[in-house]
Amino acid sequence: MTAESKQPLLSDHVDMRLVAVDADEAIADRNAIVQLDPDHPGFRDREYRKRRNQIAQLAMNFQPGDQIPDAPYTAEEHQVWRTIWKALEPAHQKHACAEYLASLRRLNFDSDRIPQLREVNERVQAISGFRLEPVAGLVQPRVFLENLANGVFLCTQYIRHHSTPLYTPEPDVVHEIVGHGVTLASARLAELNRLFGEAVKRTAGQEALDRLSRVYWFTIEFGALREGESVKAYGTGLLSSAGEMEEMHEAELRPLDLDAASRQQYDPTHFQPLLFCAESFEALYSELREYLTSW
Ligand SMILES: [Fe+2]
Repeated sequence: MTAESKQPLLSDHVDMRLVAVDADEAIADRNAIVQLDPDHPGFRDREYRKRRNQIAQLAMNFQPGDQIPDAPYTAEEHQVWRTIWKALEPAHQKHACAEYLASLRRLNFDSDRIPQLREVNERVQAISGFRLEPVAGLVQPRVFLENLANGVFLCTQYIRHHSTPLYTPEPDVVHEIVGHGVTLASARLAELNRLFGEAVKRTAGQEALDRLSRVYWFTIEFGALREGESVKAYGTGLLSSAGEMEEMHEAELRPLDLDAASRQQYDPTHFQPLLFCAESFEALYSELREYLTSW
């Protein structure tokens, strides 16, 4: 095993259980079956597994600069998107920060069908220069984070299994688009993502990389902030889950302290019991910007 392959994977973007083929094997065998865990909601659905594999292949065949191929979603999967939007729309109105809601209006998604990454890119690129590029699943944290420096967000394209529309054991296209795609349509949040990438490029050791990954987790993924008397979400993990947006008001809120966040362990498999909460969007933007540029 090389030193690189020993690096832990960033759980939110990658799931070792997903495209269980290891990367080399997948390239050798283009028809490799996507292996899901036996407890995965789609484990017994042969059609779903086949489609997941097809979508993984689209990503494996993709070359940066190519037009992103459309994923072959079924009518059932578009229905999953509709079900999720029905839960998310009221949750966003109650719990999402103003910066996010403004971006959401700018992107103006169709709530009836899963948008293709190609379509999301057209809008996001015009706003912040960022683009989403498909990956099959296996991405090291360093690869994921360094790509942000170039305005590239490595993105999964499959959607969760239709039997559990409000639950997914791994990040899917809903998390990627509703969470990251929308926040990257905010010039200031996109800038913070870029600065993360640049900071990672200046980071040599594993320990320092782990610290930056934790700061990413507690801000871009699970950040909260105050708007007047209310606590609102700007983190993509919160914004893509109606359940977790409700639950965030039960979490222990600590004042935003990026140094403390860099040392704070977390468990990605549960609703987060601890969040760092900025005093305002402006405070978050300036503190995180300063932290990353002086990293
Ligand atoms: Fe994420």
